[in-house]
Amino acid sequence: MRQEDIDVWRTAQKHAISGGGAASQERHKARGKLPARQRISLLLDPETPFLEVGQLAASGLYDDAVPSAGIVTGIGMIAGRPCMIMANDATVKGGTYYPLTIKKQVRAQKIARENRLACIYLVDSGGAFLPLQDEIFPDEHHFGSIFRSIAEMSSQGIPQIAAVMGSCTAGGAYIPAMCDETVIVRETGTIFLGGPQLVQAATGEVVDPQTLGGADLHTQQSAVADHYAADDIEALQLVREILGRQEANALPAPPTEPRAPLGSATDLVGLIPESPRQKLPVRDILNHLIDADSFSEYRARYGTTLICGTAHIGGYPIGILLNDGILFSESAQKGANFIELCCQRDIPLLFLHNISGFMVGAEYEAGGIARHGAKLVNAVSTARVPKFSVVIGGSYGAGNYAMCGRAFGPRLMAMWPNARTSVMGGEQAAKVLRLVREGQAGTTMDDDEREAFERPIRDDYEAKGTPVHAAARLWVDAVIAPDETRNWLTLGLALARSTPKERTQFGVFRM
Ligand code: COA
Repeated sequence: MRQEDIDVWRTAQKHAISGGGAASQERHKARGKLPARQRISLLLDPETPFLEVGQLAASGLYDDAVPSAGIVTGIGMIAGRPCMIMANDATVKGGTYYPLTIKKQVRAQKIARENRLACIYLVDSGGAFLPLQDEIFPDEHHFGSIFRSIAEMSSQGIPQIAAVMGSCTAGGAYIPAMCDETVIVRETGTIFLGGPQLVQAATGEVVDPQTLGGADLHTQQSAVADHYAADDIEALQLVREILGRQEANALPAPPTEPRAPLGSATDLVGLIPESPRQKLPVRDILNHLIDADSFSEYRARYGTTLICGTAHIGGYPIGILLNDGILFSESAQKGANFIELCCQRDIPLLFLHNISGFMVGAEYEAGGIARHGAKLVNAVSTARVPKFSVVIGGSYGAGNYAMCGRAFGPRLMAMWPNARTSVMGGEQAAKVLRLVREGQAGTTMDDDEREAFERPIRDDYEAKGTPVHAAARLWVDAVIAPDETRNWLTLGLALARSTPKERTQFGVFRM
């Protein structure tokens, strides 16, 4: 793997976990508040991992001033049960919600809902980032959907618990107000629909934050909160106790004994070529990801550019689709058929993207590649078994769709640092646009003109196809190292196994 790809990712990661500037962090501590990430580690069962979701959100956006989009979200174990934790980082612009903060919390709630994870909201936020209100307030997936999800998940029996550990203003006040049970911290926690500034502007009343919405008011008079905590540590302990009092399923054990893969996880990075132009040794990579000797290949001699087969990862069964070349009609049909089998047998699906797209050209169009490709996209769309996507190489054009890109609802989706994604490769896009321009003008460009025209397009595609660019916009949940992939998938499969099975009803396949 290219060192440059690793360095770019690690630099973005370092910035993402850095929180707000030194001055706001000092102020936060001086108020007796713990940093968001420390709150999470105190909440989790000791020595258990935290699978962070959307860590790189907003990386490079908003002048790079909103690390992790101002909210830390991820899956961890609390009182023996898997939970989704959402913790505002008040050191980043008062923990206010930018468009990507909303998108990140909406995504975290979706993961929680699909996996029936208890939701813990560690609230410390000034609500909407007012200059961008039109991008966060009124639409379907905006702020309102966060509150609606709390109510809907509660109605489905998925616990919704809030700890108010700082400001909780305006729309944000509905998070604790709508949760099943709410803890509030003395002196630092406040909940109000309108903060002191707004109250003064609206009615002329001058009131301090604690009188307006502090812990005493809400636990003695208003009952907007249920539990009173002396400080952050006590609040986190109370949340653990609330969860501990409820009956919950622990993560289900794998149905078969997990076996180490044939190749060691640490060797995996070495298998990724230095140049993205070099072919990935996909069968070798597969052997480093799955339990040893567990792969049973489906139609190994047919449609060979899409490897399909069942295996185990960490002892959990999985159906794998892995690209080894361009998608042809045969490989697409084989993939659709394999998905049907997995749905019939309740086997979750893993898509390992390494795809430049579908084959093009007169012969293939005449052979109906659009119709055969549509079968695969149809099967991917309607399959109701849990789906997971990892982009291990390229993920381009309709190949991304056929391999369960973001729009097709994978329960978790990640990219490796060497991976790339866009509607087509930069070089192809530059050539296509140049040919269109030449066609319009009725002339042909010389070499210099060609380079001057194509280079900015190539550069733009390269910059916008990277894993950090994708993760910053939440097109994927995480950028993960190849050697983390097995653990990441094992947790995803364990979570999926504890959710009710759903019957698949496919749409009309064009035969
Ligand atoms: N929209 C945009 N920016 C906001 C904001 C908001 N709702 N609330 C705070 N900020 C900004 C501040 O301007 C400041 O920016 P700066 O770092 O560039 O100077 C930064 O966030 C931190 O705010 P500050 O007031 O210095 O921090 P604090 O920790 O003392 O207080 C709040 C944080 C959230 C309690 C306080 O800023 C506040 O009450 N904000 C208004 C909340 C509100 O009424 N929201 C309504 C949403 S509908």
